Amino acid sequence: MKIKYLGHASLWIEVAGKNIIVDPFITGNPKAAGKINVDDIKADYILITHAHQDHILDVERIAQNNPDALIVSNFEIASYYGNKGFKFHPMNHGGSRVFDFGTLTYVNAVHTSSFPDGSYGGQPGGFVLETDEGNIYIAGDTALTTDMEIIPEMTELDLAVLPIGDNFTMGYRGAIIAADYLEVGLIMGYHFDTFDLIKIDHEKVKQAFDKAGLELVLPEIGDEFELNTEAD
Ligand code: NI
Ligand code: MN
Repeated sequence: MKIKYLGHASLWIEVAGKNIIVDPFITGNPKAAGKINVDDIKADYILITHAHQDHILDVERIAQNNPDALIVSNFEIASYYGNKGFKFHPMNHGGSRVFDFGTLTYVNAVHTSSFPDGSYGGQPGGFVLETDEGNIYIAGDTALTTDMEIIPEMTELDLAVLPIGDNFTMGYRGAIIAADYLEVGLIMGYHFDTFDLIKIDHEKVKQAFDKAGLELVLPEIGDEFELNTEAD
C-alpha cells in the first residue's frame, strides 16, 4: 500500500491497483499550492469522513475528472453527491462493505458534520481499510473516544492516521492515548499546521511520541510512504 499526503486531511492511497482519495481539500489549501495539482489526481474511490469544507472542497472536481469514481461516505453525504449525478455508495456507522481493494468500515468519530451551506451532513466518521497490503485506520476529525477500543477487536492495525492539530480535533496528547486504545505503534499525524489554530510544535510532539514508545510520521505535503507490513 502506498500513501501520499496531499495536505491537511487529504490522502491518496494506492492499494490493490486502485486509487483511493480521502477528504480532498487541495485548491483551498495555500500550503498545497505548487506541490499538488488537483487535476493530476486519479481516483477509483473518494472516501469522505464528514461534510466540513476542509474535507469535501475538491470532491466534485475530482469526481468530474474521474467519472467512474465511487463516492463513499455516510448516507447523507453520499446521497448529497448522488443527487448531483455522481456515483455514490452510502454507508453508516459500524457497517463494513467489501470493495475490490479490500474491506471498508465506517466507524465512529466525535465531531460535527454540516455542509458549508449549513445543510445536514449526517454524523461524522472515520474509516478502517482492511487489505492484503495492510490494515489502516483513518480517524477523520475526532475527539479522543473510547469507541476506538472497538477497532483492534475487529482487526490488527498496521497504521493509524490521526488528527493531532488540536482545537477542532484531539491534539497530540489525545493521539498518544488513541494509539494505546488502537493497539498500534505506527501513527501518521494529519490535520495540523494548515491554519493558525491547528499549528503544532513539531519537536514537542515528536518528543512526546518518542517518550511513549510510538513511531510518529509527520508528513510534508507531497510525501509518499510505502506501508511495510512485513515487520510485526
Ligand atoms: Ni471537521
Ligand atoms: Mn477538519
